[in-house]
Amino acid sequence: MKNINKNYYIETWGCQMNEEDSEKLSGMLLNLGYSKTEEKTKAEIIIFNTCCVRENAELKFYGSLGALKRLKKEKPELIIAICGCMMQQEGMAQKLIKTYPFVDIIFGTHNSHMFPEYLNRVRQEAKTVIEIFNKEDGIIEGLPIDRESSIKAFVTIMYGCNNFCTYCIVPYVRGRERSRKPEDIQKEIEDLVKKGYKEITLLGQNVNSYGKDLEPKINFGELLREVNKIDGIERIRFMTSHPKDLTEDVIFAIKECEKVCEQIHLPVQAGSSNLLKRMNRHYTREQYLDTMQKVKKEVPNISISTDIIIGFPGETEEDFLEILSLVKEVEFDLAFTYIYSKRKGTPADEMEDQIPDDVKHSRFNRLLEVVNEGCAKKNKEYEGRVCEVLVEGPSKNDITKLMGRTRSGKLVNFEGNLELIGKLIDVTIIKAHSFSLIGEIK
Ligand code: SAH
Ligand code: SF4
Ligand code: F3S
Repeated sequence: MKNINKNYYIETWGCQMNEEDSEKLSGMLLNLGYSKTEEKTKAEIIIFNTCCVRENAELKFYGSLGALKRLKKEKPELIIAICGCMMQQEGMAQKLIKTYPFVDIIFGTHNSHMFPEYLNRVRQEAKTVIEIFNKEDGIIEGLPIDRESSIKAFVTIMYGCNNFCTYCIVPYVRGRERSRKPEDIQKEIEDLVKKGYKEITLLGQNVNSYGKDLEPKINFGELLREVNKIDGIERIRFMTSHPKDLTEDVIFAIKECEKVCEQIHLPVQAGSSNLLKRMNRHYTREQYLDTMQKVKKEVPNISISTDIIIGFPGETEEDFLEILSLVKEVEFDLAFTYIYSKRKGTPADEMEDQIPDDVKHSRFNRLLEVVNEGCAKKNKEYEGRVCEVLVEGPSKNDITKLMGRTRSGKLVNFEGNLELIGKLIDVTIIKAHSFSLIGEIK
């Protein structure tokens, strides 16, 4: 093949959506005969897949892009491509190319399947290719994909988001909700089973609204039950759930499907009904707590994680105290905490009562303390328990050890033979750290 001995480097910011897109870009390049490299200096193609959910994601990307200028000067044949959510923002591509004229290809989230064509075009015409689709098309099935892991895989079940939370840019850069057909999802999972995969995570910005746009209609609970029937898959996870759409049939599907793991990511975002309303979340504090109670009652020992935004416009000290008390009441296993970041084009960006940075940071630190204390306490409860662990590979910090996850998603490090990778084993938890557990094979 003509691209043999040529390498590409790909760097990805943002969420699993972007990671999956990068795996598909990788798949396309491997099909063209390229190899992946972890070193930019060894690459003939460099791709940056960008995120714009918060300002700091953008700043990191700018830093990395600026550093490529020298590389391109030393190696003019290098092709630099940038893509992802940031490129979908109005005027962004034109602005970028003015400041960084050495970029060769710019495309967005709706046309990444066309990357091989852009690559050809830039070689033939020797000028920058910029192509952003403003609107999402249907779903493109059957793209090659080069997955990071050979044990667990993300399977996107729907694209886009219809919710327009007032702080969030995702609906503007990822388009409206589009569900994949259940038979396409099923086929992808069956192919993964044939390749030896043991765990899948069903992905979408709001998986609970899966299927609303399909004919015949199917809902997320029904999809979970269908996927649960597929032979060979050991574990099923899903994210993200929206509290407003988490219905009882989904809770019962988690309870009754043996492969669906006892884990849920249910972003609360704020602790007071007042802020939730201004965020356009469509649930109150009481409704969230009520849903949590139902979940815990039906699925005991379920591990619960959440996202929280601090410093949303208009957040008062009382609002803030309400998130602290909610965190204590729910007892989250994990909470991702974010400082509110203004995003152009979103309603919250225009709100008048923006919170000063020092207040945001001080509240953020106070929240972190409560969150960390709560999570450490939840982990401590695992000491002495025997857990089923899916062994994923060598431990990140100590390659003489193995790492894997419990059904509840907790990371466990333990001593064991490399042959156990990909297997389900019982591990006794002997010590809990704040963000991981130490175990011993039973
Ligand atoms: N669809 C998912 C994830 C969206 S992005 C969901 O609805 O939960 C992941 C998280 O980023 C969000 O849950 C939110 O907590 C955070 N986030 C989104 N926009 C933000 C902003 N402008 N500032 C700070 N955090 C933000
Ligand atoms: Fe953003 Fe809200 Fe959609 Fe999540 S549900 S992606 S926070 S708009
Ligand atoms: Fe970022 Fe796009 Fe995901 S903005 S969080 S990569 S959907």
